[in-house]
Amino acid sequence: MWGQCQDAPPEKRGEFASGNWKLVTGNFQPSRRVGARGLQRGSCRAMDCGLGRGSGRIKGMDLTWDSTDLEVVWCRVWEGLETATRTPGDAWRTPVVATAGDAGGGRVVVLRQVDGKVRSLTFHTDLRAPKVTALRASPWLTWVFYEPRTQVQLRVRAAGTIHAGDAIAAEAWDRVPAGSRKNYTTAEAPGTERPHPMAGEYLEKTGVERFAVVRTVAESVDWLWLAEGGHRRARWEWNGAIWVGRWVTP
Ligand SMILES: Cc1cc2nc3c(=O)[nH]c(=O)nc-3n(C[C@H](O)[C@H](O)[C@H](O)COP(=O)(O)O)c2cc1C
Repeated sequence: MWGQCQDAPPEKRGEFASGNWKLVTGNFQPSRRVGARGLQRGSCRAMDCGLGRGSGRIKGMDLTWDSTDLEVVWCRVWEGLETATRTPGDAWRTPVVATAGDAGGGRVVVLRQVDGKVRSLTFHTDLRAPKVTALRASPWLTWVFYEPRTQVQLRVRAAGTIHAGDAIAAEAWDRVPAGSRKNYTTAEAPGTERPHPMAGEYLEKTGVERFAVVRTVAESVDWLWLAEGGHRRARWEWNGAIWVGRWVTP
């Protein structure tokens, strides 16, 4: 069975379907359906596709973005995102998140968790940060990822939910290293003026009171590769039931 994120022969191209990567043999239609319910159990990682970013060598194979199969690119997108969460130094680990409104803007965050099955991407923040105010006014945000080595840009449009003082925040807080917890103990809110760069007090409290998880759920994904042989771009939209993807003009 074709279980790898590689170009499959035309008659063996697949689609993500419930439970596994489902083979659509013989009658594959370029319908661009890439998920019955998003990525399901048996998705890329389980298929051992490895990370197919750039020309990185994975398990002795040269996997690259160089595929004309929309489903393969899609698989690599989510695999790349998931890998970034556990790979310090990975360019996709520190994307820009752009929010709307007066308290909005763009800023770098650390990509903390990705779950393709439920289309979620999360970051942590201080509950008092202006971006939280912006998200309370409008939940829509855009993640922008860029990897200079391969010149791949990924934009994910998503709606964010703020979790503070709930089970999601508690579970995430458990994984925040002790050294990083101090970031959430400043007496003043992020952005507050101070007389000196080293001025400012740290509260005695743990920081969990000001800790928030922003969990976002993707609605569209835009992938752009500035390839030497010709730029390529693809776009996927969540239609409420499945991801629908298509190639678009770069
Ligand atoms: C490498 C890097 C990683 C960062 N990670 C986060 C993060 O995970 N969460 C966060 O709230 N701010 C993070 N920041 C700080 C933000 O970029 C931003 O300055 C701060 O959160 C205030 O943003 P706001 O005023 O738009 O709310 C990071 C900055 C850098 C340079």
